[in-house]
Amino acid sequence: MANLSCHFPIFGPLLVCAFITLSLTSTEALKPKVARLQFYMHDVVQGPNRTAVRVAGPSPDDQSTLMNSTGLNPFAAFFGPVFVMDNPLTTAPDRGSALVGRAQGIYIHASQQNEFSLHMTLTYMFVSGPYNGSSFSVVGRNPVMGEDRELPIVGGTGMFRLARGYCLLETHSMDGMNAVVGYNATVIHY
Ligand SMILES: *[C@@H]1O[C@H](CO)[C@@H](O)[C@H](O)[C@H]1NC(C)=O
Ligand SMILES: *[C@@H]1O[C@H](CO)[C@@H](O)[C@H](O)[C@H]1NC(C)=O
Ligand SMILES: *[C@@H]1O[C@H](CO)[C@@H](O)[C@H](O)[C@H]1NC(C)=O
Ligand SMILES: *[C@@H]1O[C@H](CO)[C@@H](O)[C@H](O)[C@H]1NC(C)=O
Repeated sequence: MANLSCHFPIFGPLLVCAFITLSLTSTEALKPKVARLQFYMHDVVQGPNRTAVRVAGPSPDDQSTLMNSTGLNPFAAFFGPVFVMDNPLTTAPDRGSALVGRAQGIYIHASQQNEFSLHMTLTYMFVSGPYNGSSFSVVGRNPVMGEDRELPIVGGTGMFRLARGYCLLETHSMDGMNAVVGYNATVIHY
């Protein structure tokens, strides 16, 4: 561009103006926004209409070796299984309340010591409201019996393109192994 204005000095100021306008527009577009979303996730692993299914896990032999080698540690009994889930997200704890999205992906029973904990790789996609069609993705550790749980948001699509943030989770209710989990997500996006 320096070359251009040398050859055609008369366009110099015009070009500079164009650049200032362009860079103002892109700075405006890159100003981060903060979205706060509250929703409830329904994880049904037992009974009819399951939303999460086990797709792989250790053999019974592996499992008894693990349990024996960790001194009959009860957590070792849960270590290893891989689940695929497609859990509905609703506005309220009631399963019949308005559907806002779905959480889809994989979770793995990834702890064999001290506590029952999952590794989660999930995409939360929204199907209504201002974020309809957008999604954010989460990768992290979820000690499901803990009081305060937090999962990092590592990216997103649509309105949530380039997102980062975090989800705070708490179990709202349990029915056997089926759970309703409350989420407060804070999403920084552009
Ligand atoms: C399972 O899904 C079917 C079809 O959507 C529905 O009629 C039934 O009430 C559901 N059962 C439970 C226990 O949610
Ligand atoms: C684990 O321990 C149990 C009971 O002590 C025993 O019956 C079983 O054979 C052991 N399994 C392995 C794989 O070592
Ligand atoms: C969400 O977006 C889809 C695709 O654009 C559209 O068909 C649907 O009606 C929208 N849903 C709501 C609740 O706005
Ligand atoms: C989410 O925020 C609401 C309102 O501030 C609060 O009542 C609720 O306990 C929070 N839930 C979680 C999982 O942090």
